Amino acid sequence: MSASDIYPPPSEVSINAHINSYEKYKELYDKSVQEPSEFWGEIANSFYWRVPPPPPFLRYNFDVTKGDIFIEWMKGGVTNICYNVLDRNVHDKKLGDKVAFYWEGNEPGDSMSITYSELLGKVCQFANVLRAQGVKKGDRVSIYMPMVIELVVAMLACARIGAIHSIVFAGFSAESLCERILDSHCSLLITADGFYRGDKLINLKRIADDALKKCTEKNHPLGKCIVLRHLGRDDSVCDGTNKTSPPCKRPCPDMQTMWNPSRDQWWHDLIKDVSLECEPEWCDAEDELFILYTSGSTGKPKGVVHTVGGYMIFTATTFQYVFDYHQDDVYWCTADIGWITGHSYLTYGPLANGATSVLFEGLPIYPDISRMWQIIDKYNVSKFYTAPTAIRLLMKYGDEPVERYSRKSLKVLGTVGEPINPEAWLWYYNVVGGKRCPIVDTFWQTETGGHVLTPLPGATVTKPGSATFPFFGVVPAILNESGEELEGEAEGYLVFKQPWPALMRTVYGNHQRFETTYFKKFPGYYVTGDGCKRDSDGYYWITGRIDDMLNVSGHLLSTAEVESALVEHSSVAEAAVVSHPHPVKGECLYCFVTLRDGHEFTKTLSDQLKNLVREKIGPIATPDYIQNAPGLPKTRSGKIMRRVLRNIAKNDRDLGDISTLADTSVINQLFENRCQTVH
Ligand code: PRX
Repeated sequence: MSASDIYPPPSEVSINAHINSYEKYKELYDKSVQEPSEFWGEIANSFYWRVPPPPPFLRYNFDVTKGDIFIEWMKGGVTNICYNVLDRNVHDKKLGDKVAFYWEGNEPGDSMSITYSELLGKVCQFANVLRAQGVKKGDRVSIYMPMVIELVVAMLACARIGAIHSIVFAGFSAESLCERILDSHCSLLITADGFYRGDKLINLKRIADDALKKCTEKNHPLGKCIVLRHLGRDDSVCDGTNKTSPPCKRPCPDMQTMWNPSRDQWWHDLIKDVSLECEPEWCDAEDELFILYTSGSTGKPKGVVHTVGGYMIFTATTFQYVFDYHQDDVYWCTADIGWITGHSYLTYGPLANGATSVLFEGLPIYPDISRMWQIIDKYNVSKFYTAPTAIRLLMKYGDEPVERYSRKSLKVLGTVGEPINPEAWLWYYNVVGGKRCPIVDTFWQTETGGHVLTPLPGATVTKPGSATFPFFGVVPAILNESGEELEGEAEGYLVFKQPWPALMRTVYGNHQRFETTYFKKFPGYYVTGDGCKRDSDGYYWITGRIDDMLNVSGHLLSTAEVESALVEHSSVAEAAVVSHPHPVKGECLYCFVTLRDGHEFTKTLSDQLKNLVREKIGPIATPDYIQNAPGLPKTRSGKIMRRVLRNIAKNDRDLGDISTLADTSVINQLFENRCQTVH
């Protein structure tokens, strides 16, 4: 089999699939784009509405030349997403005893499960705690937690009382957390003592403390911090001081030294004797549900805002069709809840369908390289969703660690986050899925809320590396630089022509930035920032970012953000960062730094710079390469030609047209200096 082959949906999957043929997909697709209000209206009817959405079901303007950009689905409809994903399952669908999550900890053997009724009780209880802390509808709550069930509890408790959650991935630095708390004016932080990533202790509370200190320095003191005791919680001898006898095998951070009694409160103290029932706050479909920050090309992260109703119906529907979900499935999405994939496809989408999911705290190859496959067999996972970077990492170890486990429960495999190279796709298909399981390569973004280009497992003939066709309600187009729509086989900017229910509504606190980033370049279209090819069969192939963003292990980073961290070092005058191919991460950071006069480029300096970026942004942003660049290639107007820098990084002397360069002599120097690159 080669990458140019096509892969029809296996008949075992098609036979019971919700959408079992391309014709059925096409029929529904056509309806969804021609009559979006009717199509989504029928879907919305299967949810609980306190007040059903009145007409018009959809109002929007995508054209900046005609006025402000706005998108409204079901405005005036009144509902609560937490009620829909929990109470409705427990009371109406009688799924109370069904497992909502199997939690699998970092250490094998450290596991537990929670049913829908239990989850509902815990969410209501914590929602009551938040209300008692003074959190009201519309307030922003920052959540900085490891992958534990209480993270789901915290986010759903916010949703229940109409508070807006802003989850910050627990791999982000204190600086990044502080920046996000300030931008969204959060009034409360929920965090945990710490957690283990493999055998490394992450002292989360200490990082959170640093962030809160920075917030105070920036005149935004946060009065309240709720701390979950995650480490040693079941260990009755662990008192959080590490002075127990015998000593804990996995020491906890010493909480007593960092406790601020006027601000910090233990989660377990706050929930004591609190009721397991809580009346939801009834919200408008267009009320804000959450803010999630994503990198922006100007450096400062953007607070992407999603609203209650549209996000609810779209994540539920995409989950059902894209994973072809059935009630006896066990679903596992390996993404962290701190990213959009964890919001849409570990929490809201699966729960809206009453699904049973695996929530995994650990790492793919800890404590051994078969951990993922062992978990699949342990829980009989039937639908598995992961990222190309994880697939490439696991592929490095060959087939044997996979084949040690049967994986016979698997039915559908999914991938997300970055383009998947055909080699990784084929390994996923042939080895992991044993040639039985269709692969859904789902293209989407934090901004799109859910899948926008994706195969359907029982209907779509797939091609390795292609995200295939649009989901219901999504109308893609490919534009050239002049903004003309290209027909047939083409390559250009990927844009969308009309909204689907989960498209973001604004950038928090900066609607103008929303309009400029996504709608200004090509009026009338939502611009994704990705390049895309359409082949002669109409398949879409994402070619990667076309703005100053890069995708490291499926995480978007902006080159500007990294550059501004680098220039904070006293030795650095200027920095330019480009993306560079990496066999596992997909892309990595290659940084060119121009030093101030009198400063010398050394290994120590390079290490300091790497640490600086790590501290400022987080470990995911750690550069792989730092190169000494006495000069940078610039146009006469002073713009850095990153295209040229990317070639230099790859040692590719085929530079194309460099006639606009102000000074070509820097080029040779930069090629020569490649040996002064510290890896
Ligand atoms: O460049 C695309 C890439 O990831 C970007 C979105 O990143 P983020 O907002 O962090 O969300 C990631 C999870 C949805 C996109 O602009 N991307 C995402 N999925 C794919 C992809 N590139 C190619 N193929 C995909 N399946």
